[in-house]
Amino acid sequence: MDRIRIVGGSKLNGTIPISGAKNAALPLMIAGLLTDETLILDNVPRLADVAQLQRILGNHGVDIMSAGKRPGDHEYQGQTLHISAANIIDTTAPYELVSKMRASFWVIAPLLARMHEAKVSLPGGCAIGTRPVDLLIMALEKLGAELTIDGGYVIAKAPGGLKGADIDFAKVTVSGTHVALMAATLAKGTTVINNAACEPEIVDVADCLNKMGARISGAGTPTITIEGVAKLNGTRHTVLPDRIETGTYAMAVAMTGGDVQLSGARPELLQSALDVLVEAGATVTPNNDGIRISRNGAGIKPVNVSTAPFPGFPTDLQAQLMALMTTATGSSHITETIFENRFMHVQELARFGARIHLDGETATIDGTAKLRGAPVMATDLRASVSLVIAGLVAEGETMVNRIYHLDRGFERLEEKLSACGATIERISG
Ligand code: EPZ
Repeated sequence: MDRIRIVGGSKLNGTIPISGAKNAALPLMIAGLLTDETLILDNVPRLADVAQLQRILGNHGVDIMSAGKRPGDHEYQGQTLHISAANIIDTTAPYELVSKMRASFWVIAPLLARMHEAKVSLPGGCAIGTRPVDLLIMALEKLGAELTIDGGYVIAKAPGGLKGADIDFAKVTVSGTHVALMAATLAKGTTVINNAACEPEIVDVADCLNKMGARISGAGTPTITIEGVAKLNGTRHTVLPDRIETGTYAMAVAMTGGDVQLSGARPELLQSALDVLVEAGATVTPNNDGIRISRNGAGIKPVNVSTAPFPGFPTDLQAQLMALMTTATGSSHITETIFENRFMHVQELARFGARIHLDGETATIDGTAKLRGAPVMATDLRASVSLVIAGLVAEGETMVNRIYHLDRGFERLEEKLSACGATIERISG
């Protein structure tokens, strides 16, 4: 199993190109099931989760062609996928595939909308909490589907097709909003989603669906209206930049000090996180090419932050902020409000000498002047990268084990960081 070795202490200086957003690329690929024409996606990140979803879609009969590099392409340019679901040969998504990646459960929406049936394995729990799908099921039932659970599978049928409806989410849910949005595009009549998630990835998917002929308005606000259409067409769409990757590298620079241009980043996608970084003592300068981030001289100031749905501080940056706060000059408080168990990084950060106390959903971090390198391991993607951030300043050697989590969501992490002066390498085997 691959590991990452880091020797801490170097400042980061240079340019980091930001990849396409994983959490937009996955639902966009799934949206390809809604049409028998070809959907072309540009700027798709090269990630293990993308490759896994290609296998899952392949099982339904979807042809996916990955276009090769063209002359003049930058080495970090994302891939272009040509997704063709002309013939859906199987409407079952089996346990072996769905259990490997939670978002693959979302295929239930386009399969139901287009094929009027789907049999999809329940995704199960994961390292960050129980993560139920009750709200997704509620949304599909509102749209007229009949759902039963048998043998660990959700069996969904809508013999006469889906029908537009009002869907009120009791809790803001990204997955629920994606599923309701995709299903409603091909439903008869009008659907209104209330208390919809406003995340930029929802807007990106809605933009692409509208290019495919859907009639969606209000994406990015809590009320989304969808006028159903009979058929969707193919189109070409560029995946938006990854705001979580952007925020992660911004925190890494704040941690080590230095000066880095995050090329291709869009500040409006993570304003709340940038505000927190400024409060912590970093200098953040949006420019034509993205965001420049630096920290020189002054120490890291402690902050108090609660995670919240967009535009609040993202839960997917909570672990990275906690790593940053381990060396702040005082006590910080970080409250996790989205997932009930997203603190798996706490015990691993302690291996570096970090002082963190957990009380329910709030972590108190007492900053320490020095972290020391250690062998560490994490159980989810964002927790893993928080250990990399700590390792970048820790004295001596850090070995991050089980890095397949990192490969799920960070493209060429070690290359991007070493190009900016970090001592970081992948050790294979
Ligand atoms: C998406 O997960 C992201 N995943 C997550 O990123 C991200 O942390 C999360 O949104 C919140 O921003 C993808 O986009 C692929 P939710 P999702 O539905 O859609 C509860 C990463 O590291 N809930 O918004 O699954 C749920 O338990 C990942 O890239 C229900 O109770 O999140 C949670 O407490 C991790 N019932 C809250 O809602 C439901 O039916 C928000 O979940 C659905 C959700």
